[in-house]
Amino acid sequence: MKTVLSGIQPSGRPHLGNYFGAIRQHIGLQERSDLRGYYFIADYHALTSSREPALLREAVRDVALTYLALGLDPSRAVLFRQSDVKEVCELSWLLSCVTGMGLLERAHSYKDKLAKGLKPNVGLFTYPILMAADILAYDSDLVPVGKDQIQHVEMTQDMAASFNALYGEVFRRPEPLVPDEAHLAKVPGLDGEKMSKSYGNDVWIFESGKELKKRVNSVATDSRPPEEPKDPAGIVLVQLLELFLDAAELAQWKERIRVGGAGAPGYGHLKQRLVEAMEARFADARARRDEYLRHPAEVDAILARGAEEARARAAATRDRALAACGLR
Ligand code: ADP
Ligand code: TRP
Repeated sequence: MKTVLSGIQPSGRPHLGNYFGAIRQHIGLQERSDLRGYYFIADYHALTSSREPALLREAVRDVALTYLALGLDPSRAVLFRQSDVKEVCELSWLLSCVTGMGLLERAHSYKDKLAKGLKPNVGLFTYPILMAADILAYDSDLVPVGKDQIQHVEMTQDMAASFNALYGEVFRRPEPLVPDEAHLAKVPGLDGEKMSKSYGNDVWIFESGKELKKRVNSVATDSRPPEEPKDPAGIVLVQLLELFLDAAELAQWKERIRVGGAGAPGYGHLKQRLVEAMEARFADARARRDEYLRHPAEVDAILARGAEEARARAAATRDRALAACGLR
């Protein structure tokens, strides 16, 4: 049985890009009987930038609720909080002692943040070591990540190789699992750019009612009249509808847009259809989320059970690593 592991940063309410680009794949993997999934809320990592305890607490809760609402089944996958497994901090130290400064200095995500003028703390610099500890602690085989995180998994491979070269085969080599381009949904935001929390163009997965209408109404459109024939591929609303409609219905909408004339839908129609489709797609998940909100102790219990399973594995790896390098 192979181990799949991924960490999710608790940074605000998860949006449609997070769902179609990551969460859906994570939850989908639980159908595979040859894999066991470990998904954790990367709250230690969040501390490299979070300075708001109440917000962080809420964001952590939100990730747990989101995964459970969208169908993560705690009997088939392990859901836990990173900070419930202190063994990763111990492993992180052991790895830091075999990692060259140069390796960390080459990290794109670190360099990007410096370029943006962020004043880095040490945690931000050593972030990839903590991530390597997360991955190696559970003997992970596969690590589902977005493109921006591939380099961090490769750095993990390097750290594991350095440690193993010195002390013997302690860590298992992980591989990044990146969805192929065809399955990689790049979800546009309200302005047509990539949907991202940091651009403020995102739509919360569970948005509904008036708020959802308001968000969808602000999707970027132009002033071309409905009758004018258009290339559907260039319309943000169509790109969003692609995520929700079945192929037959989608083809019909696109054809009517392409042909134009009296039968062509206006942007208002597309917006209305998008709102309906989103409401319907996430209706069950929304209900499940409400149910978990009413029973917070159940969520706590799921996270506690997840932490227990995760810790048992991480402790075994930690013991192996300590013994190998001479600390036992
Ligand atoms: P954000 O840009 O909102 O901060 P993150 O960088 O935290 O999002 O992304 C978390 C996960 O969601 C990553 O796996 C990332 O690839 C995926 N993701 C984020 N935005 C999108 C998007 N617009 N389209 C597809 N996937 C996305
Ligand atoms: N760095 C990842 C992100 O920003 C989150 C993360 C932390 C992670 N530890 C991990 C992802 C281990 C995969 C495996 O999205």
